[in-house]
Amino acid sequence: KHVALGIDIGGTNTKFGVVNHRGEVLEKGNIRTDAYPTVEEYINALYEAVAPLIEKHGNERNFDGIGVGAPNANYYTGTIEQAPNLPWKGTIPFAKLIKEKFGLPCTITNDANAAAIGEMLFGAARGMKDFIMITLGTGVGSGIVAGGKLIYGHDGFAGELGHTIVKPGGRKHWSTGSEGCLEAYASATGIAITAKKMRAEFPESILNQYPEESINSKTVHECALKGDPISMEVFRYTGQKLGEALANFVMFSSPEAILLFGGVIKAGDFILKPTKLHMERNLLPIFRNKVKLVFSELDEADAAILGASALVWEK
Ligand code: BGC
Ligand code: NA
Repeated sequence: KHVALGIDIGGTNTKFGVVNHRGEVLEKGNIRTDAYPTVEEYINALYEAVAPLIEKHGNERNFDGIGVGAPNANYYTGTIEQAPNLPWKGTIPFAKLIKEKFGLPCTITNDANAAAIGEMLFGAARGMKDFIMITLGTGVGSGIVAGGKLIYGHDGFAGELGHTIVKPGGRKHWSTGSEGCLEAYASATGIAITAKKMRAEFPESILNQYPEESINSKTVHECALKGDPISMEVFRYTGQKLGEALANFVMFSSPEAILLFGGVIKAGDFILKPTKLHMERNLLPIFRNKVKLVFSELDEADAAILGASALVWEK
């Protein structure tokens, strides 16, 4: 009868669900993350959206707690700190604010860590002890599992693989200002930047038939399916940068698999093939043709909701 609330905070959208012990998402909902300038307004909006679900599932007394996955979240301190893709700046005592508003205990971890836990318990990483989860959304996140444990590191922030440099002196990140990080290329934001550059350079591309604000990995995928070579090149280039980065990550921790997750993977082989090619090409022979590169099995929203809610029962 006991349930938990799992919340997955992304740079653009927030998804939440009521989850039971068997990992069934009984109820789902979402709000925009980017529509609230202050964290207080955001938490109020979240509460408004979630309250009916809490009521429907027997009120607070049936809820064991709230688990949250969020960018730049610190599992140890319950804070969200200086997130490059969130509207709220500084250090936010997020778990405490949620606890006060909802009257339920709250545990918070990095969003990609939550997705990794979800995959480990209920998805493609079941039975795996060493794997890396890469989430390709507004930002690029990662959850590193080694020896069956999520790596948190000394400060709790381990696994910020999206901010590792894949092209020294390369594209400037819109928020951190660093040059050439993976996120600047392989996130949904990065893919849109690549696509806009490419279509400006190649007027013949059918990508030019779309208004500027609709250029994203979905529209690029549509054009690639219609045979537009420029759109295919957008994914090839993205896959190259991602694959080169993955080779580094593989040599660092020797995972059994790398799981890719997020809207971007809907582009299928357009992104997977070049990613695999460039990963293998840059690996030391001892690692070659061993690491599985797989797409997440769980519904996009569910992995992190499930992983976040699992935090509630972990303690
Ligand atoms: C943040 C990570 C987060 C990722 C995906 C990155 O910009 O630094 O903490 O996991 O975006 O949201
Ligand atoms: Na992480």
